[in-house]
Amino acid sequence: MKGNSALSSVAQKLVIGISGLLLCGFVAAHLAGNLLLYITDGNYKAFNEYAKNLHDFALLPVIEIGLLVLFLVHIVLTLWMQLQSSKARPEGYAVRKSKQGRGAVAAQNIMHLSGLVVLAFILLHLADLRFGLRFNEDGLSPAQTVLQVLRDPVSAMFYTIGPLLLGYHLFHGFQSSFQSLGLGGERFMRIVKIVGAVFAVVVAVGFASLPVWVTLLRK
Ligand code: HEM
Repeated sequence: MKGNSALSSVAQKLVIGISGLLLCGFVAAHLAGNLLLYITDGNYKAFNEYAKNLHDFALLPVIEIGLLVLFLVHIVLTLWMQLQSSKARPEGYAVRKSKQGRGAVAAQNIMHLSGLVVLAFILLHLADLRFGLRFNEDGLSPAQTVLQVLRDPVSAMFYTIGPLLLGYHLFHGFQSSFQSLGLGGERFMRIVKIVGAVFAVVVAVGFASLPVWVTLLRK
């Protein structure tokens, strides 16, 4: 019985890791698309063409459903594992008592908290830019719509804090995904750590730079 639950917790970690890595792929592609906003020539022609091609892509609904499933699996499994580990009290207590254990528990708590704030940001972001619930002026190009959202001071704050926390989440999440997959040795993990750190910084700075740029330079 105990063996079974250990196995399923390994399997759950594996699924969290794989879904996290696939989400990293989406984040990288999404960042590359959004950075086209910096090419302002021809009234943001590059970004508008990218957005148009994306909307015209026949498989977009399939990708969107896939993304939703990935996000749900990643979040629900993480929360489920958290619930399970807090239920296993005596063991958890012993871990919390040691200095190293306290550090690990604190890091895990910060991961969950940053994940939840990132989730709140994504929900606001989808309401704004996917469903147009707050900003839905007719006749704007995709670039003008994004700029309109980023010009709003409250949105600018969320669009800065959200990506910075996403960066923090990736900083820890990227390497722990590989740990869950159990790939490679010490040297491989050192490289994964460096790649993860660079990726986290690029994602955080790349996304967060857009609201800062719009607020400071493109008023
Ligand atoms: C400055 C930062 C960002 C900008 C300007 C931005 C821009 C956009 C735009 C314009 C769309 C709508 C695409 C469409 O019309 O269907 C979108 C969708 C989306 N964004 Fe962002 N985004 C930003 C940051 C992020 C971050 C950090 C995440 C976190 C993972 C994220 C996740 C998503 C998701 C999940 C969708 C829905 C994808 C879809 O349904 O096709 N975005 N974003």
